[in-house]
Amino acid sequence: MSDYPPAAQADTPAEDGGASFARDVLAGLAGTPRSIAPKYFYDAAGSALFDRICELPEYYPTRTELGILAANAREIAAQIGPRADLIEFGAGSLTKVRRLLDAFAPAALPRRFLPIDISGTHLREAAQRLRADYPALAVHPVVADYMAPFALPPAPGAPARPVGFFPGSTIGNFSPDEAMRFLRLAARLLAGGGLLVGVDLVKAPATLHAAYNDSQGVTAAFNLNLLTRINRELDGDFDLDGFAHYALYEPVRRRIEMHLVSRRAQTVTVGGRPHRFEEGETIHTENSHKFTVGGFRALAAAAGFRPGKVWTDERRLFSVHWLEAG
Ligand code: AVJ
Repeated sequence: MSDYPPAAQADTPAEDGGASFARDVLAGLAGTPRSIAPKYFYDAAGSALFDRICELPEYYPTRTELGILAANAREIAAQIGPRADLIEFGAGSLTKVRRLLDAFAPAALPRRFLPIDISGTHLREAAQRLRADYPALAVHPVVADYMAPFALPPAPGAPARPVGFFPGSTIGNFSPDEAMRFLRLAARLLAGGGLLVGVDLVKAPATLHAAYNDSQGVTAAFNLNLLTRINRELDGDFDLDGFAHYALYEPVRRRIEMHLVSRRAQTVTVGGRPHRFEEGETIHTENSHKFTVGGFRALAAAAGFRPGKVWTDERRLFSVHWLEAG
């Protein structure tokens, strides 16, 4: 969204006492239209709901991307190359990278794996589980916002080839300007290596609509959980029955938009401040942009990458791109 709050340093009370969450939510509720950045979905309950979304029959992206990674793992490992510094952006629970790691011969395994996430607790736990399963891999979690420039921890010895991994089509949650800014930053950070990025594709609007309006209501619960989080962490009094999940595919901007729509005129208080909602007024909570293969390659090229091999599934639902950073 154009009024997406600026990059914050952390998103959890554990990292910064919740100050950036409070600041961003209050600014977002004061805006027109009101909006809250999707990174705030992922508290413990939201992360668990997202994991359930990934299992839904209608939500094709996760299983399709995992299938593409598994089917092409050897070829992808060859692009990454031996003994790389593998950097995962917005790492989450570190399940997808296992598909890649399993394709390397022991001597070619990445020299270091550096997952970056602003949610420190979740990241450190996932890193611990990964270490247990891959004892030969050096895992160095980096707690940072990858939208701001950051430095990688120095490695002993000669510098390794830096390779980025950005799965899940999370790049689609950025506005076009933010996606460009991220890709430019990544191209600089990964100079001499490359970026492996998962990108959801444009397709029949009905398929997209179903993926964000599942029949079990898990996506609705995920969206509404943002209000539960605000009530708990920011002393809010949102009535969850007073808001409805609304997700639509907007074909001009080629994006899913998620909203929380006020079902009646009401006043909600957050952190002592009243917010008046008209009936039908929305809080815009997420954009999820969809791309054509050619459109994404053009974007990557404009950001300074040399687009390389692209892998897709048979139905061309999802794509994984190799981008060379000169
Ligand atoms: C995987 C985080 C990009 O946009 O599809 C899933 C998040 N939102 N259902 C997406 C999400 C609603 C998702 N990302």
